[in-house]
Parts: sequence; structure tokens; C-alpha cells
Amino acid sequence: MDIYRQSIKKINDFFRINLRDSYCIDKIFAVLNDIIAFESGYIFYVFPEYINLEFSCNNTLSKKEFINLDEVKKQQDINYLNSDLKIDNTTFAHLVITRKTLFNEDEKAIFSTLSEVIASLIRNIELNSIISLQVQAQQESIAELNKAYQTIKKQNKKILKADKIKSNFLANVSHELRTPLNSIIGFSDLLYSDCCGKLNKKQKDYVNDIKISGLHLLGMINEILDMAKIESNSMKMNTSDFDIKLAVDEVLNILRPLALKKNIKLLQDTQSVTITADYVKIQQILFNLLSNAIKFTPENGEIVISVKKDKQNTAISVKDNGIGIDKKEIKKIFKKFEQGTNAKYTNSTGLGLTITRELVKLHGGEITVTSEPNSGSVFIVKIPC
Ligand SMILES: Nc1ncnc2c1ncn2[C@@H]1O[C@H](COP(=O)(O)OP(=O)(O)OP(=O)(O)O)[C@@H](O)[C@H]1O
Ligand SMILES: [Mg+2]
Repeated sequence: MDIYRQSIKKINDFFRINLRDSYCIDKIFAVLNDIIAFESGYIFYVFPEYINLEFSCNNTLSKKEFINLDEVKKQQDINYLNSDLKIDNTTFAHLVITRKTLFNEDEKAIFSTLSEVIASLIRNIELNSIISLQVQAQQESIAELNKAYQTIKKQNKKILKADKIKSNFLANVSHELRTPLNSIIGFSDLLYSDCCGKLNKKQKDYVNDIKISGLHLLGMINEILDMAKIESNSMKMNTSDFDIKLAVDEVLNILRPLALKKNIKLLQDTQSVTITADYVKIQQILFNLLSNAIKFTPENGEIVISVKKDKQNTAISVKDNGIGIDKKEIKKIFKKFEQGTNAKYTNSTGLGLTITRELVKLHGGEITVTSEPNSGSVFIVKIPC
């Protein structure tokens, strides 16, 4: 059988080689050897600056790892066939086979054709290895993402647990503090009213100071307790129908002495309308907004509270002509323990508006504020009817 017919028969063997097999280049050389007998075979890769041996078969040159193409060519009494391996007209390697006997013209022609088949096989081998590297990299990054997700999930659980413990702790501590504080306030009130014997002026002043400080502390503890309740979702709504004017009048009566002290006018424009809401919580909202207005309005100022009900909402507005709030701080004042720079010298916690906003939210409403430094502020609460 002539060499052409034999090589056509054998050429299929190239395509039966599994290109993922780590010995696939040896197998390519073996098929080639079946068609054109040779003693040594080499594939030199062409890099931008140099050409280097990448694969060899029966390398007779030396045991050296790096053999140059020229070294193959320079061997004495050795014949070689050399063909460029190309992808899209670009040579990426040289295929060389050597033997002692001469190669004939037929072998030269077949070698040049086979080198094209081998070039395409090698290109596929390289593509396969790139793809499997990419798949591996993707799998690794998925595994890493998964690991990171698990860690975050675990940490999140811990944070939630810690938060719950903190809320419970605050609720318990606040409760334990409130009980003795109430008796301090109650007994100082009793002493002040002379029911246990007449106090002199100095004693009365001191007892009054005890009561005021006690009330202040109680206010702070109540805020912390409310915040803890809100955070643990245990704040319950207790709705009823009531006249909003009644709630406003009661809060104004409590706060009037404070306003009087600073000679602040407390005006109201409240409709006498029935609303359905939580009476205590609405009073707390009014108390927080009005006490803020008094706190941040200088002497001889003016505060107007107005309540209006339309088809959709009951709108409560508290307007003052006080020191106002810096534009940059408007968002921050609703956050826990955050106060504006205007509150530098006040002795308070910065929880009032956070609680107010949560109480408004519990009613399904919203709170907004507009303010101008040195002109005053308007807080508007809208609660659906
Ligand atoms: N009417 C107002 N005028 C000017 N600034 C205000 C007014 N109301 C609130 N603020 C600003 O918003 C901040 C947050 O108010 P918030 O009621 O939450 O805290 P606080 O009054 O400082 O403390 P707390 O209410 O806990 O006693 C205040 O510290 C103040 O800077
Ligand atoms: Mg406040």
C-alpha cells in the first residue's frame, strides 16, 4: 500500500485521541509515527522573544529541559522535517521530526498536510485547558462566595441575638430603675407639700431639686424603655375613639409651667374632632414635639399647635420660632441618640424624635419637618383617619 493510502486510513486515528488526556501529545506523535517513521519528535512553541521546546518524543538530543530549535537542526548525521503550526495564518509552534535516514518527497508532502491537522488538535487542547481552568476558577469563586455567605449568615444570627439580649437587658434594667425612682419622686413630693411637718425655705428648695432631677431621670429611663420595646417589636397598640382636643389640652397643661418659665406663648388652633388612635401614644407624640419646641425656642418666643382633620388624615402641626435646625442635620435628628449641634448644652438623650417617628409609624402615619436656622421649625404628623 502506498504511503498516501496508508496515511488516509490512519488520519482518523488523530481524531480518536481524547484531547483531555494528559498523554494526548504522546498519542499524536504515535499516530504520526505510524504514518511517517521517525526517531525523535519535537514541538517548539513560539513566544514573542524566543522559541522553546514544549513537547518531545524520544528526545535523543540530550536530557536538557530546554532545547532550542537550532540545536535540533545542528545535529550531525540527522535529517529533519520541520513544519510551522499555525492558527489563522499565525505560527504558534514548530513541529519537527528527526531520523538518521533521509525523508523522501512523499513523506515531506504528507508531513506538511498532517502538520495542519496537528495544529488544529493542539489548538483544541489549549482551548480545552483554558476552558477547564476557567470552570475551575468559577467553581472556586462560587465556593468562596458560598463560604462568605455562610460566615455573614452566622454573624448576622449572632448580631440579632446580641441585639435581643441588649433590648431585654435595657427593658429589665429600666424597669428596675423606674420603681425606686418613682418612690424618690413620690416622697419628695410628699415632703414638699409639708404633710410630714413644715420645711424651711432651703429644705423645700433641696426637696424640689430632688424631685426635678428624679423626673428628668425618669423621662430618660422611659425613653430607653420605649426604645427597647420598639426594637423588640413588643410595643402594642391600644386604639379607641377620642376627641383629639382633649389630648392636646392635657399635654399643654402639663407643659405650660415649662413654657411660662421662658415666657413662651403657647397658642393652639385645634379642631374638636373624634379620631381613632392610641390615646397614650398620641399624647406621647404631642409631648415630645411640644417639649422640643419649648426646649429649642428662646425666651419670649411663640409656639403654635394646630390639629386639623380632613377626609384622609388628621394632621398635627407644631410650629415654633426658635433656633431652628441646620439643613445638613435634618435627616440625622430622627436617628437614635442623635442630636443636632443646637442641642450642645441640653441635658437630654436624643431619643424623643426616634420614638415619636416609631409611634407615628405604628399608626400608619408619617412625620415631616421643615426648619430654618434662627427662624424656627415646623413638625407635621399625619395620621390616616
Ligand atoms: N423644635 C426644634 N427646634 C430645633 N431643633 C430641634 C427641634 N426638635 C428637635 N430638634 C433637634 O433634633 C434633635 C433630636 O431631637 P430629640 O427629641 O430626638 O432629642 P432631644 O430632644 O435632644 O433629647 P430627648 O428628646 O431624648 O430628651 C435635638 O437634639 C435637636 O437638635
Ligand atoms: Mg426631644
